[in-house]
Amino acid sequence: MANITDNDRALLVQKAIEARNNAYAPYSKFSVGAAVLGADGKIYTGCNIENVSYGMTMCAERTALFKMVSEGCTKFAAIAIVAGENATDGAPCGACRQVMGEFADGLENTEVLLASLNGNYITETVASMMPYPFVNFKPQED
Ligand code: THU
Repeated sequence: MANITDNDRALLVQKAIEARNNAYAPYSKFSVGAAVLGADGKIYTGCNIENVSYGMTMCAERTALFKMVSEGCTKFAAIAIVAGENATDGAPCGACRQVMGEFADGLENTEVLLASLNGNYITETVASMMPYPFVNFKPQED
């Protein structure tokens, strides 16, 4: 699932823009949408979901990634994220970058598309978004 085309990227960005319409963000009023291209070829979308107990809020990126994993796919090839007029308005928080590291199909290969509401995007990778990643920890044997 490495050969991503510009058409795939444009579709992923459109899906993220659509998903943003479902954002539940009555507190921040900051809507975010994400769309993940799973290694299974399927697209999983997500939006941010806030709570009156603010710390319970879930970001759009993790909503989409957790939907993917809950459907049985544990690797992704690309994620598009959109929040506002500028492509970097939806640059992912640290927690989401860490979760991307867990499920990336190779840190260097997995694309992160930072998109604006008009569909323009910047192409990064999980590796470029997260230097010195904490991904190699192995639990100790007893
Ligand atoms: N948010 C996301 O959905 N993704 C990010 O990467 C950054 C922040 C959401 C969480 C909250 O609902 C709102 O944006 C403001 O922080």
